[in-house]
Amino acid sequence: MTEHRQENRRLWNEWSDDFQSLWNANTADGELPPAPSPFAPDAPGGPQPEIIESVEGKKYVELGCGGGQGSVGTAELGASPVVGVDFSGEQLRHAEQLRDFYGVDAQFVQGDVTDLPLADDRFDVASSEAAFQMVEHLDQALDETRRVLRDGGVFVFSVMHPLYEGLDPETRTIEESYLDAGPREVVIDEGYESTLTVFDRPVADLHNALVDAGFEVRRILEHGNHEVRTTDPDDRDLPDILWEVPHSVRFWTVAR
Ligand SMILES: C[S@@+](CC[C@H](N)C(=O)[O-])C[C@H]1O[C@@H](n2cnc3c(N)ncnc32)[C@H](O)[C@@H]1O
Repeated sequence: MTEHRQENRRLWNEWSDDFQSLWNANTADGELPPAPSPFAPDAPGGPQPEIIESVEGKKYVELGCGGGQGSVGTAELGASPVVGVDFSGEQLRHAEQLRDFYGVDAQFVQGDVTDLPLADDRFDVASSEAAFQMVEHLDQALDETRRVLRDGGVFVFSVMHPLYEGLDPETRTIEESYLDAGPREVVIDEGYESTLTVFDRPVADLHNALVDAGFEVRRILEHGNHEVRTTDPDDRDLPDILWEVPHSVRFWTVAR
């Protein structure tokens, strides 16, 4: 394991309880915590029926599944079997808890997205949300994704938008060059020992990496904050400029 990977994994193990409590912050007593799926009718950018009509009965894998929200939400839509992969044991513990709350069938596997412990051609559908920007060797992660998907399988891939990440909202200036893919070190405020290393790749680089790994890119969507941050009342206080640039970028692709 490279140094970045080890340190990132340590950070996720340290941060997991606090991170997952953010997810569940607005859950009233007795309510199920959220489990949004990228294939749900209210997903950012919405489903893409011309690419995949339904995930019902489809073999699905979530890469960098964290607390399992996407896996559980997609199992709720009828995907089966459902597998979530993450390298953080603590994140997977939360994922298993969420699965048990919902009473759905999903298997969570500890592993690195650049070396998936999964057989070739095993899945019809894959997704990854807000995880591959932490991966130094994006080409390896995408090659592995392509390997575990059958020909014609669908991969929905989303990361934080590099423009959003590079912006200093206070001064309304570009703090990190859009063209610099990193590495960038992120210190999480809560005072953890470990830091996080991320790679803010330009959208063109993400697109070309997908093509090089054998994916046909059918749609590129850029989501504003209004699409992805609808539940947290604190969001109303975000500086104006963060509502004027894309928060994340999403690719709907098909394995060639
Ligand atoms: C921001 S969380 C996103 C989790 C989930 N996809 C979501 O949308 O909430 C990023 C996750 O990616 C995982 N991750 C980062 N790098 C990874 C790698 N190389 N292999 C496996 N998991 C990784 C982290 O452990 C963390 O759970």
